[in-house]
Amino acid sequence: MNPPEGHLSRQVAGAAFSIPSSLLQALRCARHVTVLTGSGISAESGVPTFRDAQTGLWSKFKPEELATRGAFQRNPKLVWEWYAWRRELVAQAEPNPGHLALVELERRVSGFTLITQNVDGLHQRAGSRDVVELHGNITRVKCFEEDQVVPTWQETDETPPLCPRCGGRLRPDVVWFGEMLPADAIDRAVAASQSCNVFLSIGTSTLVHPAAALPFEALQHKAMVVEINPCSTPLTTRAPYALRGAAGQVLPRLLQML
Ligand code: APR
Repeated sequence: MNPPEGHLSRQVAGAAFSIPSSLLQALRCARHVTVLTGSGISAESGVPTFRDAQTGLWSKFKPEELATRGAFQRNPKLVWEWYAWRRELVAQAEPNPGHLALVELERRVSGFTLITQNVDGLHQRAGSRDVVELHGNITRVKCFEEDQVVPTWQETDETPPLCPRCGGRLRPDVVWFGEMLPADAIDRAVAASQSCNVFLSIGTSTLVHPAAALPFEALQHKAMVVEINPCSTPLTTRAPYALRGAAGQVLPRLLQML
């Protein structure tokens, strides 16, 4: 379903953007709304986006150099400590108005699927239910050998800690570069992208597949695709609406006008 003016990407510029009435109307009568979020929605919670420069002692590393099986096998202590630092960052962060607006949107619409590339768990802490986590969750750990989640673990002087079941090393329950996404998560995400009336792509650079393909899948299935991002991405010129702003400002405004 596209706005009357067709595919022309509608740049709604400025911080005090007026949300197009045709978009509000589409949301009001949507049978199913699907949302894809990236690290941009957590930026206003103080969690650096994935491609922000790393800070502090981690500034000399690129995430791509640490978030791999090979990096963990070469230096499990370094990789474990990087994730421990990020867990600490996330624990100190709070969900922001963008996360909270999505909880409200879920309440307002009849069908809703929230898909996230983020591993920070902030959507769940905001109150979103049934979040489809494409890339896992940094607050969970699993056994590197068994590839099974370990519900609780103790930090010991052994870094990384060892699996209480088999003695293998523990690793974060996140999807590393080169690893497969959880099959059930990607299947749900594709189905929700193909069957929705409105697809909101929020705070993602739309660079990393297969997540980056989801908004285009929605476009192909005649959904109204809306991008919410202060910057342009490969989706911007294809999305009928590109709301140029921060998620923590655009989303509450959208809910206010809905
Ligand atoms: N509101 C909305 N968008 C924002 C905000 C904000 N306040 N701040 C930044 N952004 C946008 C940036 O313009 C950028 O387009 O968020 C996007 C963040 O892009 P990335 O850092 O590439 O993060 P993401 O798209 O989530 O990365 C996808 O890549 O490396 C993998 O697994 C990693 O999940 C990650 C995936």
